Amino acid sequence: MSRGTLIAGNWKMHETVPEAEQLIQALLPRVSSLDGVEIAICPPYTALAPMVDSARGSRVAIFAQNMHESERGAFTGEVSASMLVDLGVGGVIVGHSERRAFFGETDSRLAQKLPAALAAGLVPILCVGESEAQRAAGETEAHLRAQLEADFAAIEPARYAEVVVAYEPIWAIGTGRVATPEQAQEAVSFIRQVLAETSAAGAAQARLLYGGSVTADNAKELLALDDVDGALVGGASLSAESFATICAAARQ
Ligand code: 13P
Repeated sequence: MSRGTLIAGNWKMHETVPEAEQLIQALLPRVSSLDGVEIAICPPYTALAPMVDSARGSRVAIFAQNMHESERGAFTGEVSASMLVDLGVGGVIVGHSERRAFFGETDSRLAQKLPAALAAGLVPILCVGESEAQRAAGETEAHLRAQLEADFAAIEPARYAEVVVAYEPIWAIGTGRVATPEQAQEAVSFIRQVLAETSAAGAAQARLLYGGSVTADNAKELLALDDVDGALVGGASLSAESFATICAAARQ
């Protein structure tokens, strides 16, 4: 079944507005002819509105890197799903391992963020993945299952297809140590299997991405894997040329 391919660039805490402007202007012409590939970039909050303006009418959607689960309230420093929608943002990363590790993001919060994102009309990209120690201890599948079961707890099975899941092994993020195609396929197909236990149709339609040291050189091989429907790209998304090459590799 054809699920379509999504390539998302997570800029993390990089790019001031003028820098972001330069980057997107370099990117847009390089991806304008890539029919059939869905492309999203996830700039920092400060660059969201200008990037929505710059990408208008292009094939690039603008996603956020995080959101709060509540609609409004006394949550200093936070941003709600409807505030993102109001800007023209189309989706949001939730549960990135950096947010889990450095900002105390918990599965119980994520179980609220996912339905809040869907209710607002945002495409959520949920990140899951094991640490190096968990992999070495043979706990990868148990960890992925625990994350998925907790984070999807409040999602109606009928909406599973709308959630994008990114498998991002923590040991592969920003390290240059990309997962082997076998490791990526094994983990991503396991994720689909876990989702299928609750919704077979949703699991068959949900897009599952790989993330962690994806580059212009290794993208083709990863994107060719049966269960991999795209990539979540960090460092390489900060170069228009590399990111465009990765997007083009998705067209094979
Ligand atoms: P790198 O591509 O820099 O390894 O980062 C991956 C990532 O964390 C994307 O969300």
